[in-house]
Amino acid sequence: MTPAPLDDLATQRATILAAIAALTSLDELRDAEPSLVGRRSVLATLQRSLGSLDPGERRDAGALLQEARRDIEVALQSRREELRAGERSLRLEADRLDLGDVVVSDVRWPMAAGHPGLVATTQRSLEDVFVAMGFTVAEGPEVESDWYNFEALNMPPAHPARGLWDTFYVDLGEPETVVLRTHTSPTQIHLMEEAVAHDSLPIHSVMPGRCYRRDTPDARHLATFHQVEGLVVDRGITFADLAGVIETFTRAYFGVGIEARLRPGYFPFTEPSAEFEVTCTICRGGGCRTCSQTGWIELGGCGVMDPAVFEAVGIDSEVWSGFAFGFGIDRCAQMHHRIADMRALIENDTRFLRQFS
Ligand code: DAH
Repeated sequence: MTPAPLDDLATQRATILAAIAALTSLDELRDAEPSLVGRRSVLATLQRSLGSLDPGERRDAGALLQEARRDIEVALQSRREELRAGERSLRLEADRLDLGDVVVSDVRWPMAAGHPGLVATTQRSLEDVFVAMGFTVAEGPEVESDWYNFEALNMPPAHPARGLWDTFYVDLGEPETVVLRTHTSPTQIHLMEEAVAHDSLPIHSVMPGRCYRRDTPDARHLATFHQVEGLVVDRGITFADLAGVIETFTRAYFGVGIEARLRPGYFPFTEPSAEFEVTCTICRGGGCRTCSQTGWIELGGCGVMDPAVFEAVGIDSEVWSGFAFGFGIDRCAQMHHRIADMRALIENDTRFLRQFS
């Protein structure tokens, strides 16, 4: 026999199930949930009323109530899934692009064909120059761990040089800090690790790719930009080899009349380090706004591999030596094509872009 407080259980159960079936959206379901199965629901009130029964009755009534609750929870869950699927397909339908809507007569003929952008073609030409000089081309990830972007490059946590490369931090909920790489130098680390793992030293490679910095764009800077990294690890390498490569590259890529110079500089991963500059092509060295009246444009940095970096990847610096460099592809495009303001590269003004098709 049904205990007195549960006289209406069947009716109440049917009413609740009907209410669930009548829910028309996930929002409605979320709003209704507390009154259907929560602490203020009919079920909860019934549960509380069982306290007045004697133990035998309470057990039977409890079992009945449990069964009703299970049915209701199952119904609620399956309604939730139905509504979720329904809302998803509505969203998909709304996002669908009906290509049938494009009226062919609206398209202007002849349609203009696109062409690779200036940065992409510049990257290709730079690769060609280096391949001709005996380098291979490699690529690395744009999202790096703190270790690759900083630490293995001889920048322990809190090293002041990190300030030069402030960046965008990616929160993946992982204990390790993950960043959008601020330079292509971390790809050196990947390459050296691979060479150590496969016992395949020496390395003569260039590594082009996209980088990110918390920089305010101006005539010479973009917050998303491109670099090409170079790495040579071999026996008996000196600064003279580096200088020779820089000189040869400048001649081959910029032609006569553009000089390269190396100025003493500082990078944590090279010792000694230098800044690599070329004659400003806008003013031919006379001084202008683009080069801040110096007549020179810094393309990037370079230097002889610091033994601390070799140590981080397990290369014996008694046996191996090397040099590295890294410079801006966008800067090369800017200097090669005499573009006074680098921001033109990302403004998508077709009158500008068409000049390089
Ligand atoms: N990664 C440096 C930067 O973005 C440039 C650089 C300097 C790269 C020295 C090198 C190097 O490989 O040896 O500012």
